[in-house]
Amino acid sequence: MQSRIFLIGFMGSGKSTIGIKLARKIGYDFVDMDHLVEETAGMTVPGIFREHGEQVFRKWEHDILMELCHRERIVVSTGGGTPCHNQMIQIMNEKGITIYMRLPPEALKERLIKSKTERPLIKGMAEPELLEFITSLLADREKYYQQATYTVNGINLDTEELVRLLETNQEK
Ligand code: S3P
Repeated sequence: MQSRIFLIGFMGSGKSTIGIKLARKIGYDFVDMDHLVEETAGMTVPGIFREHGEQVFRKWEHDILMELCHRERIVVSTGGGTPCHNQMIQIMNEKGITIYMRLPPEALKERLIKSKTERPLIKGMAEPELLEFITSLLADREKYYQQATYTVNGINLDTEELVRLLETNQEK
């Protein structure tokens, strides 16, 4: 099985939830890229956006990704924008495999409305504005997400399904 498995997809698609379960099932370490950036920077993601801006966040995200490319047997939950900046989709596809967890805008909105995680890109948005924002940003990002090694339906995604996918497609 590939040594580095990157879960990609929009905010709220469930990358961390599934990633933890998948890692446990296949005996890999689980890594959350946002948490690693936060640990390294000594501040939260919203703090980084506020104090340094998105471009600096993307640079630090890239640095973390390069470090992760030296680790073995990891399942990585990436940030929603990770594959869309600084050639990071190419890097992940070269150094491992990527799985795009795809969900429609409406489903993402429902999850994000309920989520407790603070996300600078959607902070303070009310429901109609949020749906419009998701629809538009997702349309921009699809071209990156679609470069994933595999695309799976993120609704009711079962970890076993991912394990089977990884086992039956070992040559990738
Ligand atoms: C972002 C998604 C967030 C985090 C940052 C930017 C994005 O991660 O990296 O707020 O650009 O979509 P999650 O996908 O884990 O929410």
